[in-house]
Amino acid sequence: MPRPSPVVLQHLRTENACAPIALWTRRPRFSWQLVSSAKDVHQRAYQVLVRDRSGALIIDTGRVESSESVLVEVLSHDLAEAQEFGWQVRVWVGDDTSASEWAHARFETALFGEWDAHWIEPEQEPVVVDGATSILEAIRGGDLPAPGERLHPPLRIRQRIELTGQPARARLRATAHGVYSAEVNGRPASQDVLAPGYQSYQHSLAVHTHDITDLLGAGPNLVAFTLADGWYAGRISIFGRSAQYGDRLRLAWQLEVEYPDGSRQVFGSDRTARSSTQGPIRYSDLFIGEHHDARRIENGWSRIDFDETGWSPVRTVDVQTPLVPFIGEPIRRVRQIPAVEVITTPAGESVVDFGQVIAGRVRMRVTGAAGTTITLEHGEVLDADGNYLNNISGMNKDQCDQYTLAGHPAGETWEPEFTLHGFRYCRITGHPGPVLAEDFVGVVLANDLTETSGWHSDDARMNRLHQNVVWSQRGNFLAVPTDCPQRERAGWTGDAQIFMPTAATNADVTAFMSRWLTNLREDLRPDGGVPIIVPLPPALQAGFDAGATGLDGIEVAAGWSDAIVIIPHVLYRRFGDRRVLQENYPAMVAWVDKQRRDAAILPERLRAGGLSQEQERRQSLLWNGVLNFGDWLTPSTMDAADPSSIMAAPLRTGELVGPMFQVHALDLLVGIARVLGEHTEADDFAERAASIRAAFAAEYLDRGHFEESLQGLYVLALAFDLVPEQDRAAATGRLIQLVRENGNRLDTGFLSVPYLLDVLVDAGRADVAYQLAWQDRCPSWLYEVDRGATTIWEAWDAIAPDGTVGVMSFNHYAFGCIDDWLFRRLAGLVEAEPGFRRSLVTPGLDSPLRRVEAHLDTPYGRLGVDWHRDGDRARIQLSVPANTTSELALPPGWTGPAQRVVGSGSWTFVATRSVPTEH
Ligand code: BGC
Repeated sequence: MPRPSPVVLQHLRTENACAPIALWTRRPRFSWQLVSSAKDVHQRAYQVLVRDRSGALIIDTGRVESSESVLVEVLSHDLAEAQEFGWQVRVWVGDDTSASEWAHARFETALFGEWDAHWIEPEQEPVVVDGATSILEAIRGGDLPAPGERLHPPLRIRQRIELTGQPARARLRATAHGVYSAEVNGRPASQDVLAPGYQSYQHSLAVHTHDITDLLGAGPNLVAFTLADGWYAGRISIFGRSAQYGDRLRLAWQLEVEYPDGSRQVFGSDRTARSSTQGPIRYSDLFIGEHHDARRIENGWSRIDFDETGWSPVRTVDVQTPLVPFIGEPIRRVRQIPAVEVITTPAGESVVDFGQVIAGRVRMRVTGAAGTTITLEHGEVLDADGNYLNNISGMNKDQCDQYTLAGHPAGETWEPEFTLHGFRYCRITGHPGPVLAEDFVGVVLANDLTETSGWHSDDARMNRLHQNVVWSQRGNFLAVPTDCPQRERAGWTGDAQIFMPTAATNADVTAFMSRWLTNLREDLRPDGGVPIIVPLPPALQAGFDAGATGLDGIEVAAGWSDAIVIIPHVLYRRFGDRRVLQENYPAMVAWVDKQRRDAAILPERLRAGGLSQEQERRQSLLWNGVLNFGDWLTPSTMDAADPSSIMAAPLRTGELVGPMFQVHALDLLVGIARVLGEHTEADDFAERAASIRAAFAAEYLDRGHFEESLQGLYVLALAFDLVPEQDRAAATGRLIQLVRENGNRLDTGFLSVPYLLDVLVDAGRADVAYQLAWQDRCPSWLYEVDRGATTIWEAWDAIAPDGTVGVMSFNHYAFGCIDDWLFRRLAGLVEAEPGFRRSLVTPGLDSPLRRVEAHLDTPYGRLGVDWHRDGDRARIQLSVPANTTSELALPPGWTGPAQRVVGSGSWTFVATRSVPTEH
């Protein structure tokens, strides 16, 4: 009798998704996790079967001698669209002869081809075009009529359909010019919010699929939609400008119904629909806010028996834009947080405090007389006196909702439907009774990603810092990766790149980022330029074309455009996703090729001539002649009294930051090309990087010193290996000297901050890294924590040491990139091979912490560490997922067990400090 297998298989995923009903690829990859109480479990072979709905076998891999269990490719041809499939897997481990039990999972493919539906366009007033056309105008604001005078009500749409029987399966697919919510027979079609999300709508339109089987019955049924401006026609991005993709709202949906006997019916939006603008929502805009007049509620409008008299016909229109399946998790209400208290401010106003800066909106319960209008304004901080502050200025950035009561004696509950705000505080005016905390809930909106991390230490401030980062991640993984969820809500490529390692630590961002990268590729400039914002709003592109946006003509930028290389690389490393490299490789190559061509442009200061031939040769290799954002927001270059100082960092650092990122992108590409088997190209990238390195050192470094005394330049030069070996010590010394001269405080901008602490640790100066990480005078991470931050701020001194509160974003994730360092260098969880197939555990035993307990839900399962230091002795507990190995790497001066490499299971190590620490 063979022994039963010691493993069970769990966590079956199709493209990292659990039982998706509209899978966005027809060649899905499969993942499974091995679970076992035994130690050192390794998969030796697997077998996967894929079947169609009837049970017919599509593929049987047979026994495959392979240890692969993450994103395994077994399909050699595309699966049929809009079909249900089942797959099953079993594995053999170690030298066991018996296989595990089979584990089963299901999925459905999306619809890729033609639709039977028509696009419909209800009768409507076109969206009024307003908002700024330049940065200056955006900031200064302007005199626009009140929102109620220029915004239009969302459109409600009803369509009857007749089913021949009770369905066994029904899938509603929908997309829009605008954002929609769908109802079937008076009930919500799904929990999704703000579908179909945001993308460059001129290139493609995403389709969400909803399972509405349980909402339909035999006979007449009603499918209803509400359609609002959203990102398509509403105010968006830096300029807060409307109608950037179009000024008319449109809808397309298709419903596929299957009956128990296998017969089918397909319905779609068409001319039989009726629409009305007379609903309770008088206007709704993502930025401005929403006005809901509850007196206008028409009960039952989305049910079959409602009287449609007075509703208008719709017309069908031709929309040529390709429809594509939505990739990843939709936006949903991911958390609900009760209000903490209602503050009566020194100014005598009622302000609800939710205790946490979030992105979302307020749900409110209220009782009062019909016609009473309550105003809800949203802000992230109070001012220095404790009064309500609107910390977001600019045209159309109102963040203000209004609710007019219907007057129900038992009270009424309301949450806006098509808007969202960045806030912690909500100022309430016009409330008919006492404003009570129990009547208010903060509804957190975000794409519904699986969160994957935990980090807890014996230092409450560090724990709070980690939580703040997680909250900034939630607030900015909203439709696209944004800079901030209030002022711009734009997919700034730099911010996303800077934060990506942290984002990949705290959540499974694979599908979300793949979606955005698809969009990035659609938005690429014909010359390979990667935009600084994706989706790139047409008004911004128009400004670029006219040379008049106020962004100083910066269309591509070092550290921003490099997102095309850096982000897929992070996804590959953290999740073992090779396909994301494949998909983006041509765009990466186009980007570095553009840099090579543009390297011919000399920095302005050198254009007058007078360069030696050798200098000219070197300069022509360096991508340094076009202005970029440089080490953006470097603290010492900023002067609160002089707004134009924001361009000082770009001007002082841009010429160096350009070629530094140019080399970094090429270095990453060498590795990426090798993974993809493009060895000749890899060699070419390596050669290019080497010659740029040499040119850079000769042009800008003098025995490891730069002319500019800015920390960020040293950090980047060391991190990207631009300092010749013999000068590294000098460069490190200079960096530490600058840190010391700045009172042991950082002075790094956006681009260098992610590397600051690592560079110090790698140079053997973890002590300085710890000083910076634990610094609590401004600028520092703990300074923000001490000032009560609940998210990461745009600028370190957003609340200045003198208490002045800045009008800026308090939910900007970029500087939250330290969180990745907390995991790698303090907890000590590092991916040594893609997907954490092999991990390195590097506990920060010399840090000021005495204990860290952390975990990552890796593609193979949970990798956890719990270490405890007591004087010169430490106990390290490790839990390693099956089918992986882990290596313990102690800090210098610590000795531990002889066996440092372990397989799966729980392990306990004891380490002792053999050499007392110095410095
Ligand atoms: C945004 C950033 C962005 C930057 C570009 C700001 O206004 O909020 O985070 O990356 O502009 O320089």
